[in-house]
Amino acid sequence: VNAENNCIVIFGASGDLTHRKLIPALYNLYQIGRLTEHFSVLGVARTELNDEDFRQKMREALIRSEKAEGETLEKFCSHLYYQAVNTSDSTDYGKLIPRLDELHDKYQTCGNTLYYMSTPPSLYGVIPECLAAHGLNTEEYGWKRIIVEKPFGYDSKTAKALDVQIHRFFEEHQIYRIDHYLGKETVQNLLVLRFSNGLFEPLWNRNFIDYIEITGAESIGVEERGGYYDGSGAMRDMFQNHLLQVLAMVAMEPPAIINADSMRDEVAKVLHCLHPLSEEDVKNNLVLGQYVSSDIHGETVKGYTQEKGVPADSTTETYMALRCEIDNWRWAGVPFYVRTGKRLPTRVTEVVIHFKTTPHPVFSQKAPENKLIIRIQPDEGISMRFGLKKPGAGFEAKEVSMDFRYADLATPSLLSAYDRLLLDAMKGDATLFARTDAVHACWKFVQPILDYKAERGRVYEYEAGTWGPTEADKLIAKTGRVWRKPS
Ligand code: BG6
Repeated sequence: VNAENNCIVIFGASGDLTHRKLIPALYNLYQIGRLTEHFSVLGVARTELNDEDFRQKMREALIRSEKAEGETLEKFCSHLYYQAVNTSDSTDYGKLIPRLDELHDKYQTCGNTLYYMSTPPSLYGVIPECLAAHGLNTEEYGWKRIIVEKPFGYDSKTAKALDVQIHRFFEEHQIYRIDHYLGKETVQNLLVLRFSNGLFEPLWNRNFIDYIEITGAESIGVEERGGYYDGSGAMRDMFQNHLLQVLAMVAMEPPAIINADSMRDEVAKVLHCLHPLSEEDVKNNLVLGQYVSSDIHGETVKGYTQEKGVPADSTTETYMALRCEIDNWRWAGVPFYVRTGKRLPTRVTEVVIHFKTTPHPVFSQKAPENKLIIRIQPDEGISMRFGLKKPGAGFEAKEVSMDFRYADLATPSLLSAYDRLLLDAMKGDATLFARTDAVHACWKFVQPILDYKAERGRVYEYEAGTWGPTEADKLIAKTGRVWRKPS
């Protein structure tokens, strides 16, 4: 299904996200024919630019992304427009009215408008109010939808307040909270793997699963984003949103059908079942870390506090590991070990399902563990590990692997996360967007960790290029387990 005819208004059009992700995503959709000619993009920001200046900037960005050239590029760029608006001044939003009228007219987009807030979060409450002051939120003439980028709030209280602000002017069905992890093919594949195979689902519970690891490792540091990251840390940047969404996909109950309501009901339900963390739980089950300078392959890598925009005495965590549990029938007693960090040895996002061992050891030596490794990125795929007989005398078991590589299925026109999510928003399909109850369940769960961290959370050092502080190894070793070290 193609996108519905519409005008996409991007607030924060001069920002990084617009030229790095949003415009390339729209271009890709255009190129593969998922956007018809009936669309326009109106970039909005404070900077004074005209349509041609904006087109030129976006053209350059698309050429840099090495995706675009020739006639298609020119045709796509002719759909781009720009309007300078002082985004904190309500009266200035009046300038959008004639522009939108003109674009809806020209492209026959029937008033359908998708607002994308790709601005600093301080404007997330302001923009809806200013749009409403000019009636730009009403659905009398065409639909109006609003996409909110992360972070959705800074903690439980601010997330609730933001929701109240947005809900004053937009109804929940108009709000699309984007979490780009939900747009990843392989995160969606978790659902297909679980719910379309009679093989796995019967084993997917406390009777057969020993524990689950979820890893979101990055080898890069904070790069140019030190200023933003220092106010956020791994907990808010990766865990509260992306990794908890992945956890929900792993742990949720099957929805009766895949549509926005039933899917999101199940996601919210499982997130509400996360075992609430007492102060004692946080103390015993959480490890925070910060990378310090080290030599990687003969090159000295900066420590976090030496990064641009980061205060020299910062205690922001660039690593976190947490053991958590889900209080429901399916998962009672199964630990979920979740970790994420910057400047780890490699970039990998994966889920590892560790199955219980056989009840009685028949052979003399310990059998290899049965695990299912679901690789979300890169080298997307699934690997099943189990024991088979080592050829030769005796009955020695060795670990073997059955591997599936996602690339073997994919066609070259695979949609990236932003392609997929923008297309869904333009189709009015909110299945892969976070609903208000799920976002608040995540914040509710994370809040005791934030409180603990603010008061007495210790942040351990780890050398850049290693798998985090040794305390994280001790955390999982308490139950005799070890973290997998993916390469
Ligand atoms: C973003 C975070 O949301 O996700 C970044 O702000 C992080 O810090 C990024 O690097 C990771 O996304 P991906 O798709 O590269 O795993």
